[in-house]
Amino acid sequence: MAVTLVTSCASSSRFHFRSFSSSPSSLSSCFVRFQLLSRLRVSFAITPLYCSSKATAHTIAHATLGLTQANSVDHPKISFSGKEIDVTEWKGDILAVGVTEKDMAKDANSKFENPILKKLDAHLGGLLADVSAEEDFSGKPGQSTVLRLPGLGSKRVGLIGLGKSASTPSAFQSLGEAVAAAAKASQASSVAVVLASSESFSDESKLSSASDIASGTVLGLFEDSRYKSESKKPSLKSVVFIGFGTGPELENKLKYAEHVSYGVIFTKELVNSPANVLSPAVLAEEASNLASMYSNVMTANILKEEQCKELKMGSYLAVAAASANPPHFIHLIYKPSSGPVKTKLALVGKGLTFDSGGYNIKIGPELIIELMKIDVGGSAAVLGAAKAIGEIKPPGVEVHFIVAACENMISGTGMRPGDVITASNGKTIEVSLHRFHMNSASKGSSFPLLVLQVNDTDSEGRLTLADALVYACNQGVDKIVDIATLTGEIIVALGPSMAGMYTASDELAKEVIAASQRSGEKLWRMPMEESYWEMMKSGVADMVNFGGRAGGSITAALFLKRFVSENVEWLHIDMAGRVWNEKKKAATGFGVATLVEWVQNNSS
Ligand code: BES
Ligand code: MN
Ligand code: ZN
Repeated sequence: MAVTLVTSCASSSRFHFRSFSSSPSSLSSCFVRFQLLSRLRVSFAITPLYCSSKATAHTIAHATLGLTQANSVDHPKISFSGKEIDVTEWKGDILAVGVTEKDMAKDANSKFENPILKKLDAHLGGLLADVSAEEDFSGKPGQSTVLRLPGLGSKRVGLIGLGKSASTPSAFQSLGEAVAAAAKASQASSVAVVLASSESFSDESKLSSASDIASGTVLGLFEDSRYKSESKKPSLKSVVFIGFGTGPELENKLKYAEHVSYGVIFTKELVNSPANVLSPAVLAEEASNLASMYSNVMTANILKEEQCKELKMGSYLAVAAASANPPHFIHLIYKPSSGPVKTKLALVGKGLTFDSGGYNIKIGPELIIELMKIDVGGSAAVLGAAKAIGEIKPPGVEVHFIVAACENMISGTGMRPGDVITASNGKTIEVSLHRFHMNSASKGSSFPLLVLQVNDTDSEGRLTLADALVYACNQGVDKIVDIATLTGEIIVALGPSMAGMYTASDELAKEVIAASQRSGEKLWRMPMEESYWEMMKSGVADMVNFGGRAGGSITAALFLKRFVSENVEWLHIDMAGRVWNEKKKAATGFGVATLVEWVQNNSS
C-alpha cells in the first residue's frame, strides 16, 4: 500500500527565501497576555493564493510560492582531535582557555594560583594577569576576552568564563559557542581548547566536556544564511583539545557530537524554512533524501492522501483538508545493517508546516501567526535525530520516525468548528464549539467528559498526532516518544527554557530524563492528571479536541494518551516554548540531542 519515494537529489539546503518578519514579542510573554484575551470570531472571504499542484514532490520543492530561490550552502566540517602537548608549545591561531571563577584566584603577589594560567602567564611575562585584571575578567559565565599577546606558539589567547564551577553540559556547550565566536571574530582557522582545571576532571567528564565543547563550536559557527543574498564562510578548520586525553574513546565521543550537531543543524534549517517553501511535500522529500543518504540502514515510506484515507486517518486528514498543499505521511525506518534487533522504538513528531489556526484563525499579535512555520518543530527534531542516527548507526535497535505532515489552513474544504471526525483507531473526536456544556449522552462512553470551554480548529496538532500514534503502535514498537509544539499553555506553565514531559511510565521517564541531562536540554515532568479528562467532554462524540486553557497542555497529553495502545510505553514532549529563539530570530534545534541520546542508550 505504501509508496516508497527514493530520491537522489540534493540536500536540505536547497529551499530558501529572502526576507521574513516576525513578531518582536517573546513567545512566553505572548502567551501570558493572550490567556487574558477572549477569542474574536470573524467571517471573511478567502482568495486562494495558488492552486493545488498535481506535481511530484520533486517539482513542488522547486516551484514555491513567491519565486523563492535556493542558495545551496554546505556545512564545512571541522576536524576535532585530542593532543597531549604543553599549552605553551601549541602553534595556531587561538588558544582558548576555559576558566572558572575559582581558577582566577591570585596569590599575595597577584600571580595566578592555577598551574595552567600560571604557566601561560610566566611565558607572557605577567601580561595575562595584568590584561585580565584590566579587562575585569573574572571567569563569570558569558565573559570572554581574546588577547593578542606575543610570547606563545599561539597568535592569540582567549580566556572564556565558565562560572563558579563548570560541570553542566550547557556550560561546556556555551564554551564551545564562545570558541566559535572568537574564531569568527579573528577569522581563525585553528583553535586549541584547554580547561584551566581539567586536571581535577575524571576521565569520563573529560570525554563528555570535550564532546559538549565540540557541539557548541559546530552550532556556534552555524549561521542560517540560505535566505540571505550574502553569506560568510566560516574560517575555522580544526579544533585541538589539550588535556582531555587522546585515543579512540575521545575520537568516538567527538564524532558522536559532530553527528548530533549536524542533525541539529538540519532541524534548524527545517524550522527556519518558511512555509511557502517547506510544504508537507518538501518535508517528505527531505525525509526521502535521508533514506537515500543512509540507504544501507534507512528506508522511507511516504503515504499520500489516498493511502491515509485507506488507513482511515480521518483525524489527520481533517486538519489537512483546507490546504492546497496535500498532506504527506512520513515513515522512515532505521534498521542496523547487521546483528539482532532487541528494541523497537518510534519517534513521532508534530509536522504542521504552517498553523494558521484554521477557522479559529490566530487573530492578534499574541498568537504570532506569522511565526507558525515553527509548528514543524517536533517533526524537524525527529528528522534531525534520523539524520544523526543514520550516521551513528547504533546496533540492536530499530527506530521508526513518523510524521503526519500537513498544513492547517482555511478554505471551503476545511474542517469547521463543530465537525465530527473519525480517527484511525475508531474513536470519534469532536471538533466542537460546545461551551460549558454537559451531556448525559456521553456518560456511558469510555470517556467521562465535561466541556468547560470553546473548542477550536487551532487544537490541530493532537488531531494529526492521534493518527500518527495509532500508526506507530501498529508498527509493533516497544516504546514511543512523541515531540510536538503542541500548546501555548506549556509556555505559560514552564516559560521559554524548559519543555514539558508527560508519561505514565516511571521507567521511560527515567530514561528520557537521563538522556536530557546528558544533552543539556531541560525537560520537566508534568502530571497526567486524569481527573482533567472531564474537560474533554463532548455532547455528540467521545471527546472534544480542546478542553480549555486551564491545564491545556495536560489535557492535550491526556488526549494523545487515548491513541496509544496500553502495551506500548509512551512519552510525550510538549516543546512549544523551546522551538524558537526570539533573541536570535532562529530555530533552536531543540529535541534532537535528547532523542538521539535516548536511542543510543537503548542500543546494545
Ligand atoms: N501550534 C500551536 C501551539 C504553539 C504555540 C506552538 C506557540 C508554538 C508556539 C497549537 O496548535 C495551538 O494553536 N495551540 C493553541 C490552541 C488553542 C488556541 C485552542 C494554544 O495552545 O495556544
Ligand atoms: Mn494550532
Ligand atoms: Zn499547531
